[in-house]
Amino acid sequence: MKLFIDTADIAEIRRAKDLGILDGVTTNPTLVRKIGRPYREVLSEVAKEVDGPVSAEVISIDYEGMVREARELAKIRDNINVKIPLIEDGLRAVRTLKSEGISTNVTLCFNSIQALMAAKSGATYISPFIGRIDDIGAEGMEVVEEIAAIYANYGFETEIIVASIRNPLHIKHAALIGADIATIPFDVFQKIIKHPLTDIGLAKFLEDYKKIPK
Ligand code: E4P
Repeated sequence: MKLFIDTADIAEIRRAKDLGILDGVTTNPTLVRKIGRPYREVLSEVAKEVDGPVSAEVISIDYEGMVREARELAKIRDNINVKIPLIEDGLRAVRTLKSEGISTNVTLCFNSIQALMAAKSGATYISPFIGRIDDIGAEGMEVVEEIAAIYANYGFETEIIVASIRNPLHIKHAALIGADIATIPFDVFQKIIKHPLTDIGLAKFLEDYKKIPK
């Protein structure tokens, strides 16, 4: 499973990169807003920092606007893929962008039929937002299971990015289902490494080492 970080913060990206396990980055307007600098300036900085794919979202919600913006975003750097909302004009835009060789990440997906439509339109990635599904009392991971089954049934090449991750269990379940990618916020990235028994065990080993005769 590939691991992306869900942030526009360069310091967080560098920390994840230093671990040697970072495969890409996803951003959205909310994440870029936290940086407090111009949208495209931040996206350009992020894209330069990362070797793998970086998702940059369009702001338009009409077909012409999305296609125009996507072409501009894709020019920032060749590792940029364009995040397109899962709405009717968005799926039309995905089809056009695919024919131009521009990769897309179809975002704000909340059920498996939407994901089927995105794959048929030629999306490079689909992003089911599992945390937001859990938030309304439904099972986000069931949506991921269904998408994985539907894509396998028909051999779609669209990769599943499990998004809106809130905790380490989400990542475990995504891996068990066989999702292609999990995009993880920085705080959860830190949590998936730590275990209290690791810390307790390490402290005991170091303590016992000191007691070994020199
Ligand atoms: C994914 O691409 C989105 O940026 C992100 O995962 C949304 O997560 P949220 O629901 O925590 O805002």
